Amino acid sequence: MGNMKLTLKIWRQNGPNDKGRMENYPVNDVSEDMSFLEMLDVLNDQLVREGKDPIAFDHDCREGICGMCSLFINGEAHGPGRGITTCQLHMRKFKDGDTIYVEPWRSAAFPVIKDLATNRSAFDRIQAAGGFVSVNTSGNLVDGNAVPIPKDDADKAFDAATCIGCGACVATCPNGSAMLFTAAKVSQLALLPQGRPEAKRRALAMVEQMDKEGFGNCSNTGACEVECPKGISLEHIARLNREYLAASVTKE
Ligand code: SF4
Ligand code: FES
Repeated sequence: MGNMKLTLKIWRQNGPNDKGRMENYPVNDVSEDMSFLEMLDVLNDQLVREGKDPIAFDHDCREGICGMCSLFINGEAHGPGRGITTCQLHMRKFKDGDTIYVEPWRSAAFPVIKDLATNRSAFDRIQAAGGFVSVNTSGNLVDGNAVPIPKDDADKAFDAATCIGCGACVATCPNGSAMLFTAAKVSQLALLPQGRPEAKRRALAMVEQMDKEGFGNCSNTGACEVECPKGISLEHIARLNREYLAASVTKE
């Protein structure tokens, strides 16, 4: 095992209606090669052996793809480091003897399920409101490669499509805004010819759902872009605003 000793101050909360509190946990035998989640596994193993309730936290792929891991570490979404998710954060970013604060995403639209796990189904409902293309898949499809698309647009659409729906943008924004997420989901389709036929309906429906879910307005701080593990650009928020404005003024 490793030789780092840490003190973790971790948010514990029994459910959405529990007030919650920070609790202290010493952890020994932490290797600098462990990921942050592996370090939490060590702690949970220790808690289970002691007959205590392990800490609930979200994770799935553990390789920066699924967007499930969602921890606020020392006041930063996904912790120190840029362009990485919590599962890609390694303990070598910390020092022996450190005290580390671990909290869940904080947003009224992401209620805590238990401890560090939050309910982010609001993102699914925004996506379901319009983040798709209604394609007839009955056998008469045109080969995607046969549709000419300027390289610049294809690259920008691809960049927008790398959003993994983790919610770090919401957790970081002082207003708990979901603009960066919604903008990425609108942009990835708005930039492609296949997305244009439903572009107006999509922008209006997704923004309406975003507002219904209780996310705040864009704070214009740009913090979301800084903490986004996939580097989703604020440029997409500008595109969402243009798409939404154009759809609003030409709405029938
Ligand atoms: S925009 Fe970035 S921070 Fe927000 S959900 Fe997508 S990947 Fe996560
Ligand atoms: S566990 Fe899938 S991105 Fe971290």
